[in-house]
Amino acid sequence: MKAVILKDIGGAEQLSVENISIPQINEDEILVKTKAVSINPIEIKTRNGNRFSKLLLQEKPSILGWDASGIIEKTGKNIIDFKTGDRVFGIIGFPKFGKTYAEYFVAKKDDLVLVPDNISDEEAAASTIAAITAYQALRDFGKLNPATKVLIHAASGGVGHFGVQFAKYFGAEIWATASEGKRDFVQKLGADHFIDYKTQNFEEIVKNMDVVFDLIGGDYIDKSLDTLKKGGVLISIPTATNAEVEEKAEKAGCIGVRFSLKNTQEDMKAIADLLEKKEIIPHISKTFSIDEIQKAHQELEKGHTKGKIIIKMN
Ligand SMILES: NC(=O)c1ccc[n+]([C@@H]2O[C@H](COP(=O)([O-])OP(=O)(O)OC[C@H]3O[C@@H](n4cnc5c(N)ncnc54)[C@H](OP(=O)(O)O)[C@@H]3O)[C@@H](O)[C@H]2O)c1
Repeated sequence: MKAVILKDIGGAEQLSVENISIPQINEDEILVKTKAVSINPIEIKTRNGNRFSKLLLQEKPSILGWDASGIIEKTGKNIIDFKTGDRVFGIIGFPKFGKTYAEYFVAKKDDLVLVPDNISDEEAAASTIAAITAYQALRDFGKLNPATKVLIHAASGGVGHFGVQFAKYFGAEIWATASEGKRDFVQKLGADHFIDYKTQNFEEIVKNMDVVFDLIGGDYIDKSLDTLKKGGVLISIPTATNAEVEEKAEKAGCIGVRFSLKNTQEDMKAIADLLEKKEIIPHISKTFSIDEIQKAHQELEKGHTKGKIIIKMN
């Protein structure tokens, strides 16, 4: 099978498409023929060198990727919940390695859910890490409801475009930041108020928020705290390993949350259900083949993706 091997820490040129053996499964595992894979900033960060990189490079083979959809090729003898031919998707192996940048991957049963019939392989693959991050953060920490005022940064990106849709689903009033070219997109997703971050300072416009969903980090932490009411919640997504968010929020009389997703089958089933009912609709802006993986990484790395970028397998 074709698989993308990470040769070393570095640029996109470290991703090499090679022919390797299809992986073997044990009695508790499932072999899936990959249909689509979504790529995430965490894979760029792992390729560039982060806390996952050395561990991944010690793996044989060292294949990136967590998000995928596919068709079950073979099940181990203890598997009763799934059968050959089932269409499935999920976040595989997280926070260890899912190795989904390949024509086949191996999954545990708890990492898979069925793809609804009215959802494509690409849409399913897109609705994984980005979707569960927005869903869990806004439901569990933001506790969004129709009385909530929420500010969502990077509302046009992978996580943000799901964030706006979930916030709408929970009934919140939404302020959203992105650049002017993405205004229509973000408003159609459900944002009530749009702020062009390139020409406007959101911290001068937005006040008394109950929740900020921050997908940028850095100086957005301080600026976002200025927009919160006392007791408001700042959920900072890119700063999962940095205590600064809690400390700064406490000083400002707010609550700071460092978020890390927890992959649960229950939440992925809930996402499958919301996809089926069209309550959330993933936006796929670009699709690449596995042979174009370097280009796909370079595109995501620019930091201006609208919705999600997908790798489609043959
Ligand atoms: N902790 C966790 O569990 C977890 C899970 C998922 C993701 N993350 C992290 O969350 C972050 C976001 O991920 P993502 O997949 O959503 O990224 P992404 O898809 O690459 O985000 C791109 C979007 O960000 C917008 N953007 C860039 N700079 C902006 C700014 N200053 N203000 C407002 N919008 C801006 C861009 O809009 P323009 O084109 O208009 O500039 C673009 O649409 C990443 O750091 C990722 O690693 C963490």
